[in-house]
Amino acid sequence: MTARIDIVEVGPRDGLQNDAANLSVAQKVEFIHRLDAAGVRRMETGSFVSPRAVPKMADSAEVFRNINKDEGRSRIALALNEKGVRRAIDAGADEINFVLVAGEGFGQRNQGMSPQETADMLALCAPLAHDANIALSATISVAFGDPYDGEVDPAIVANLAAQAQRAGAAEIALGDTIGVATPWQVRDVFERVRIEAPDVYLRAHFHDTRGSALGNVYAAIEAGVNIIDASCGGIGGCPFAPAATGNVATEDVVFMLERAGFDTGIDLDRMIDTAKWLETVLGHPVSSSLVRAGRFP
Ligand code: COA
Ligand code: ZN
Repeated sequence: MTARIDIVEVGPRDGLQNDAANLSVAQKVEFIHRLDAAGVRRMETGSFVSPRAVPKMADSAEVFRNINKDEGRSRIALALNEKGVRRAIDAGADEINFVLVAGEGFGQRNQGMSPQETADMLALCAPLAHDANIALSATISVAFGDPYDGEVDPAIVANLAAQAQRAGAAEIALGDTIGVATPWQVRDVFERVRIEAPDVYLRAHFHDTRGSALGNVYAAIEAGVNIIDASCGGIGGCPFAPAATGNVATEDVVFMLERAGFDTGIDLDRMIDTAKWLETVLGHPVSSSLVRAGRFP
């Protein structure tokens, strides 16, 4: 039996929120449908935050309105506060991914909240998602390091995870927003989180800012995580993290995992083709290795 690793494609949200390019709604919708055709089942499709804070996501409701709603696919909306959760529900999201922060400095700049305030906000908003029958997950951002405050105590991450579990999040992702995690740290923090939030699915979200992302994916899987965030082409980053760069590239993750015998359900050739198409609409090259080197000869 082949072990399954589920990929959550984050290109249309994390990817596009920080890219210099301004895609039209039609181009975003085409991107999403190309990703569907490449086998993606779960996708961060947009975010419902202040349009002044993140102008590139201001059209998310329109994007949600224009995409195919297939059974068996989950269109994920990012939200950070009550207004965002309400907008995501109205837009027809299948799932809300709520963002907690593990660092004070990043939390204040990204969403004007302390770590505890983000956990309290999730507790306040979770019933809205539950009442609307929408899946609820949470990402703990800067879980491996804060761009303003430095090292993050794993005890804080584990405590936030416990609170998210209590609020009813079914899945918790640990986010390396600024790409500073190492594989050994990934193992330790996930082990710690699993002890304090034993009843949730765990997901990993890595940026490749400093070259460790694929190693971190390996470490997360070794630690028992079987859901990985990745973005087509390796685009992405957070506008509130200095020098942020892209997520680990979906095609690079899929290549590594399938060569190791895992099943991801992603069609690698179609994903590479989508990354090449993306270069044409973004107007610049993407960073993934597979786009340059191609698959196993
Ligand atoms: N969607 C749209 N607008 C929103 C909103 C939402 N979810 N939440 C707040 N706003 C609007 C308010 O209506 C208000 O508008 P007004 O000035 O026209 O009256 C304004 O934003 C300020 O509202 P306030 O509640 O005081 O929020 P804030 O200024 O403390 O900002 C956030 C909080 C979370 C809305 C803001 O920091 C934000 O959107 N950050 C985005 C971070 C992000 O997406 N990072 C990348 C992904 S992690
Ligand atoms: Zn990210």
